[in-house]
Amino acid sequence: MTQDVENWTTRNHFMLRRLHSLTGIIPIGAFLIEHMLTNSLAWFGPEKFNEQVHWLHELHYLIWLEILFIFAPIAFHGIYGAVIALTARNNVTKYPYADNWRFFLQRWTGIITVVFVIVHLGHFRFAHWFGGEVYPGAPNPFELTARGFANIPPGLIWFPIYLIGLISAVYHFSNGLVTFCITWGIAISVESRKRLSIVASGIGVVLLIWGVMALYALRTVHVPNPRDIPSSEGARLVQQEVPPPNSGS
Ligand code: HEM
Repeated sequence: MTQDVENWTTRNHFMLRRLHSLTGIIPIGAFLIEHMLTNSLAWFGPEKFNEQVHWLHELHYLIWLEILFIFAPIAFHGIYGAVIALTARNNVTKYPYADNWRFFLQRWTGIITVVFVIVHLGHFRFAHWFGGEVYPGAPNPFELTARGFANIPPGLIWFPIYLIGLISAVYHFSNGLVTFCITWGIAISVESRKRLSIVASGIGVVLLIWGVMALYALRTVHVPNPRDIPSSEGARLVQQEVPPPNSGS
């Protein structure tokens, strides 16, 4: 059985390698851009953030869209990425050129991002599996997310974890954009690769800024823990809008 899988993978390596490269951009990269853009709205206050998240939660067949366009591609990309990482040789100490460092970082940020995404899904999207609240359909997703950062112990630990996850995911995607264009023959000359690297770095910086805006907004707002207050009041707070962090109110 294992031998069969190995033979099949070897025979279809070219096709799998292309599919791996493609899924990193569409749909995973596209999802990352959408996700950071949505998250960045937290900076402008709960209303803007909630409006966008409610729109997403109201999509028909949500769970199937998530499976088809988010979870399955991430699972394939992560598993086949691990196959590539385990079989490729790492030349970073032998040939310390920029490309080798990029390849080395691409692998490590891939591993860190997969671990982060698993933790992150348990923290928010599937929190209800671990005794938390159900995310899709929540009346106030901003408050729920801010509470997830502030009150699920130990509150302070989430910020560095998210910062590391964010930097890893953004580096992995931005550098992946360059390797995608090389794999697919879009960037062939050294000159075009240089130009592409500049564009990819710019996209990375924008994604990082959006992510940090979200983390700052969600981490600095004060959200009472409903467990610390009488139950009816706690339930009311889950519904209530909290003031935007930069509204000055
Ligand atoms: C700025 C930091 C981030 C914040 C505040 C954040 C917040 C959230 C929240 C609140 C959810 C639940 C959404 C829902 O059910 O509607 C979620 C889902 C998710 N996040 Fe993040 N996230 C961050 C960074 C990332 C990064 C870097 C990745 C890497 C790819 C990522 C991947 C995911 C995935 C795969 C889901 C499940 C999506 C879905 O089912 O719709 N997140 N995130």
